[in-house]
Amino acid sequence: MPTGGARIRVTHFSVDPGMRSRLSGDSYAAALPLGETIESAGVGRVIESENPKLPVDATVTGGFGWREEFVTDGKGVMALDPALFSGKVTTTAAIGVLGVPGLTAYFGLLDLGKPKAGDVLLVSSAAGPVGATAGQLAKLLGLTVIGIAGSPTKCAYLKEIGFDHAINYRDGDLSKALRAAAPEGVDIYFDNVGGEMLDRAIAAMKPHGRIVISGQVAEYNAEKPIGIRNVTRFITHRLTMAGLVVYDYRKQFPGAMAALAEHIQAGRLSYREDISAGIETAPEAFIGLFKSENFGRRLIAVV
Ligand SMILES: NC(=O)c1ccc[n+]([C@@H]2O[C@H](COP(=O)([O-])OP(=O)(O)OC[C@H]3O[C@@H](n4cnc5c(N)ncnc54)[C@H](OP(=O)(O)O)[C@@H]3O)[C@@H](O)[C@H]2O)c1
Repeated sequence: MPTGGARIRVTHFSVDPGMRSRLSGDSYAAALPLGETIESAGVGRVIESENPKLPVDATVTGGFGWREEFVTDGKGVMALDPALFSGKVTTTAAIGVLGVPGLTAYFGLLDLGKPKAGDVLLVSSAAGPVGATAGQLAKLLGLTVIGIAGSPTKCAYLKEIGFDHAINYRDGDLSKALRAAAPEGVDIYFDNVGGEMLDRAIAAMKPHGRIVISGQVAEYNAEKPIGIRNVTRFITHRLTMAGLVVYDYRKQFPGAMAALAEHIQAGRLSYREDISAGIETAPEAFIGLFKSENFGRRLIAVV
């Protein structure tokens, strides 16, 4: 081990839809070269250390990747603050609701969505970690929240966590369901999906509506992406659309994490994790994200 180094035993790592674009090289980050460790967020325990900031037995987080154990010089590895990760906030929340998905919801909604009490928010892939957090935060701000998800079980969950309406996009005409849930239209569309669903949402927007592009999960595997077709409505309804890269808000992460943790401890914000056991399950668990198989933040427990 190098001087000042530490050995980390990974306990959990994430699988993320955004990794799909890294694999094919059409992400804002560089393409992952063949043979490289797949990147992802992880949580682990220090098992050997010459680094006073990473004492043995500390629980740590960072971009560990899909691996079981590694030696670090300490760069990019952070010990979790036990004051933040206690009670209802599990250590795995560091790579979930208090990690990239929760922060994407937080900054996408608050900064790009510009929510006001009384607004109507529509969110797609609403039962996923980004969508469910965005919807619950919007409810706390006094918005009416409509979630779109892919099964009756996921829709029932959305109602349980306080969404006003939940639409199963696999059951019936989505445009009709949107008109029924938001007869006056939608102020903010928080888009995790893209494709056909984005087109339908654009047609449901109110004048001066804001569209937050968080992700395009329906497009990541498409040979020919559908793209945006309903462009004229941007003119007639003075719509705006903005893309989000959560890392642009890096300096504001500690404040946002504290706010999210406070909501969780007070019972105002809940989160689901969908954990599969064994590093060998990671490829199937990752592919399952694109087949609607996950129900909550998908993590791999390294056993
Ligand atoms: N911009 C950023 O900085 C940033 C950071 C993190 C994540 N993101 C994006 O945020 C989005 C949500 O991420 P997440 O981590 O919370 O994952 P997630 O929503 O759980 O993503 C997987 C879910 O997407 C839905 N889905 C998959 N294929 C679909 C399709 N063809 N049509 C409609 N829905 C489909 C499925 O839910 P159903 O059962 O509802 O079909 C599936 O369970 C992703 O697009 C991700 O790339 C963006």
